[in-house]
Amino acid sequence: MKQNIYDNEQFFKGYEEIRNRKFNYNNLLERPNFLALIPDLHGKVILDVGCGKGDFANDCMEKGALQVDGIDISRNMIAAAKRNYKKERLHFQQAAIEDFVLSDRQYDIICSSLVLHYVADFEAVIEKISNAMRPNGIFLFSIEHPISTANKGKEQWIKDEAGELSHFVVDRYQHEGERSQHWLVDNVVMYHRSMATIVNTLIGSNLQIEKIIEPVPTNEAIEYLPTLQKEHRRPSFLIMRARKSN
Ligand SMILES: C[S@@+](CC[C@H](N)C(=O)[O-])C[C@H]1O[C@@H](n2cnc3c(N)ncnc32)[C@H](O)[C@@H]1O
Repeated sequence: MKQNIYDNEQFFKGYEEIRNRKFNYNNLLERPNFLALIPDLHGKVILDVGCGKGDFANDCMEKGALQVDGIDISRNMIAAAKRNYKKERLHFQQAAIEDFVLSDRQYDIICSSLVLHYVADFEAVIEKISNAMRPNGIFLFSIEHPISTANKGKEQWIKDEAGELSHFVVDRYQHEGERSQHWLVDNVVMYHRSMATIVNTLIGSNLQIEKIIEPVPTNEAIEYLPTLQKEHRRPSFLIMRARKSN
C-alpha cells in the first residue's frame, strides 16, 4: 500500500514550515552527512528517488551531472520542482518508485534522501534500483534509523518525575512492518525494518556497502537547535553508500 501523505494539504503546509526553517534536522544533521558521501558527479547520469522539490537534483546538475531524473509520488512536490528548476537534461516526473519503469543499467548514481522508510516492499524496490544501476555505480540513501522507527506510534521518550528525559524506548525491534504515527496529521504510515534486514537486502541485490553514517550533531549545530542534543542518545537517521558490484 502506497501512501501519498505529502499531497495532504495540512501535512504539506506543516512540512513546508519545518523545511523552511533555517535550523532544522535536515539542514543541520541529515543533509551535511548525506552530502559528505556524494561521489564525483561530473558526466554522471543520476536518479533521485523521492526528489521532493528538486533542490538536490538541481545541485547535482550544478556539480556537473550530465542528466538528473527526479521522481516523487507527490503532485505538490513535482509541481514545485518543475516550477523551481528548468534545465535541459533535468527531468521531474510524478511517480512512485514502486511503479516507475526503469531500464537495466540506466544510471551511474541513484540517490534517495529520507524516502525509503515509506516503501512497504523494501526488497523489491532495492532490487529494482540495483538492476537500474551500471556496474560500479553508487547507491546513496538515507532513512529514519531502525532504532527510531522500532517503536514509532507509541511513547518513545520516557520522562522522569522531574520531567527530564529518562530514556528512549527501543521496543518491537524485531517486529518489522508498518508503523502509523501522528506527525503533523494522524495516520502517517512508514515501515520499520531491522539493521540486519536493511544490510542483507543490499547484499542480496549485489550492492556492496562502502560506508554507513549514523549522524552525530556538531556542537555548533546543537547551539542552533538544542533538541539535537538527543542525537547523542539515539540516532534519528541512517545513511548508507553502496556500490553495484557488476
Ligand atoms: C522527507 S521528504 C524528502 C524529500 C527530498 N528527498 C529531500 O530530501 O528534500 C520524502 C519524499 O518522499 C516522497 N515519497 C514518499 N513515498 C514515495 C514513493 N513510494 N515513491 C516516490 N516518492 C515517495 C514524498 O512525496 C516526499 O517528497
